[in-house]
Amino acid sequence: MRPSGGGKSSKGRSRKPTRSAILPWWEKLLYVLVAAIVATVWWNRVAPQHTVASFLTATAAPQEQKIAALPPPRIEEPPPPPPAPLRQWTVLFNSPTAGQSEVSRRPKIQIFFNQPVEREVTEWAFTISPSTRGDFAWPRPDHLVFTPEGALRPDTEYTISLTPVDGSREKEPYELLEARWSFTTGQARTYGKDIQPLIGAYCGTCHESNGSAAGVPLGTYRDVSRYVVPGRSGESRLYTFIQERRHHINMAGPDHSTNTKLAVIRDWIDEDKGTQ
Ligand code: HEC
Repeated sequence: MRPSGGGKSSKGRSRKPTRSAILPWWEKLLYVLVAAIVATVWWNRVAPQHTVASFLTATAAPQEQKIAALPPPRIEEPPPPPPAPLRQWTVLFNSPTAGQSEVSRRPKIQIFFNQPVEREVTEWAFTISPSTRGDFAWPRPDHLVFTPEGALRPDTEYTISLTPVDGSREKEPYELLEARWSFTTGQARTYGKDIQPLIGAYCGTCHESNGSAAGVPLGTYRDVSRYVVPGRSGESRLYTFIQERRHHINMAGPDHSTNTKLAVIRDWIDEDKGTQ
């Protein structure tokens, strides 16, 4: 038996020392490490899809995934239709052309557009100056023909223009671009300038005083006038007789065809009223 010491020392020795008190610091650390390893192994078993790293990053998962999982938002109104593209209407080609001279006084004024146009708008925008009445025709939605009523004035500059129209606020927006050009009509035909030389060249052989058709003299203006109804070539025998080919006259030559010369007679009667 150990002699009981006095005082403190015997008391201290007799007290049972705690476990922690006897564990060195490295042993504590060992326990902590083992616990950490066990916990890690357990975590990987139970939730192998999660690594510690993924668990940590999962908290920072992208918000989009959550949004994608939500039901789609209810559509209250249909989305507005995309705005229709603006259509620009321009003149591609016109006849008579700009600056053209000696234009027939019964022209067909033709305009070809780059694409189909709105008829009403285009006819409204169309002007001819000096102002002339006439009719519109549309052989195609992109092709306008204006036919003046009667003959245009001789030797006159006519200007065709399209007033620009801004329809950009329409349901189907469009823009009619401005266009403007001028042409000059031919001189007035006269008996002396146009008809007398023609008759002299092609009709005289038979219609002069000693010819086979001496009974139908065509040597003077007064003679010729008897076969002309001013303004009405269809009723003027000077024109219809040849036009119906009853005469079988060949008026073709190096300069112009028979039809061109016939047209001179017709226009002289219709447009110039068979003036001297
Ligand atoms: C080859 C001869 C010949 C030539 C060329 C000729 N004529 Fe005639 N023409 C006649 C004869 C013949 C008559 C009479 C016919 C008849 O009485 O039916 C006639 C009659 C006419 C008449 C009268 C018709 C009527 O209704 O009474 C006119 C108008 C006329 N000719 C215009 C012309 C013109 C214009 C030309 C020239 C572009 C022309 N002729 C060239 C032979 C000719």
